[in-house]
Amino acid sequence: MPLLKPLLLKSLATACAAAALTLTGTTAAQAMDRVTLRLAHELNQDHVVAQAYTHLAEEVKQLSDGKMRIQIFPNGQMGSTRETVELMQNGALDMSHASASVLESFADIYSVFNLPYLFNDQAHFNKVVFGDIGQNIMASTKDKGFVAIGAYVAGTRSFYANKPIKSPADLKGMKIRVQPSPTTLAMIKMMGGSPTPVPFSEVYSALQQGVVDGAENNVPSWVQTRHLELAKYFSEDEHTSVPDFLTISNTSWNKLSKEQQDVLMKAVKDSETYQQELWDKIDAESREKAKQAGGVFVEVDKAPFREAVKPLYEEYSQNPEHAKLLDQIKAAGTGA
Ligand code: GCU
Repeated sequence: MPLLKPLLLKSLATACAAAALTLTGTTAAQAMDRVTLRLAHELNQDHVVAQAYTHLAEEVKQLSDGKMRIQIFPNGQMGSTRETVELMQNGALDMSHASASVLESFADIYSVFNLPYLFNDQAHFNKVVFGDIGQNIMASTKDKGFVAIGAYVAGTRSFYANKPIKSPADLKGMKIRVQPSPTTLAMIKMMGGSPTPVPFSEVYSALQQGVVDGAENNVPSWVQTRHLELAKYFSEDEHTSVPDFLTISNTSWNKLSKEQQDVLMKAVKDSETYQQELWDKIDAESREKAKQAGGVFVEVDKAPFREAVKPLYEEYSQNPEHAKLLDQIKAAGTGA
């Protein structure tokens, strides 16, 4: 789904903000105290969100005249995403990457992003995640010791295995690797599979050792992790579009001066724009690479998958707060 057009205005706004910061920023940066923020993630370095974090670190350094640094710990060096979110939440780490699937266990509000077939298209996703609804969700967890300050697109997730999955019946008896999200676990069960949570960095060996029979993710993640060597059929039921987030502990945020917070937020916004533009390119490249490496894209009729997960919406909406949020998200999709 092309993202570039709606981004033009955003890029322009970012460019203006950058100009403003350059004009006023030089003296502010000179007077700034030195600070290093530690950011951990479980992604491989060429992951499209990992690239956004590298961009973020470069921007922070440049905007602060080298006074602010972001030290990145990639590849699960500091543990699984769940573990790094815990470290961050306790103030033992400044920032952690996290998919909304992992955040669901820390703050129930993130469960909404794990509902299947939530968004009509990429424009709807962008309007929600990068608009007021997303901002409110990201700021809502202060009482839990952290907030999210950046959001990143993560495409649509589909099943991959060593056989095509064309209908929910094909999932019967299959162990499917999932992120540790209660909503995702419920979704896979309703579709007929057996959900098995495994940290991202361990999925390759889980597939290899038969701990799982398949997994679900976006195309770049399937290709860049080489999961496709073990599971060559990518069946495009496109069940979820789960955003990624950059989280920071209250302790780390509060120790920054106003100028340092401004630099960080400016760099985060730039990294979001950068990542959205990069996404289309990497998605297209990954599809090409997959075909060359023997990967097979399978067309799927989504109707039976949508039908199978209807009870999930009924359960979710029983909570009035959930129902309200869902209405807001639906309204954003109809232009209301
Ligand atoms: C995607 C997503 C990551 C997530 C991963 C997973 O790659 O961008 O944030 O960790 O899926 O399935 O674990």
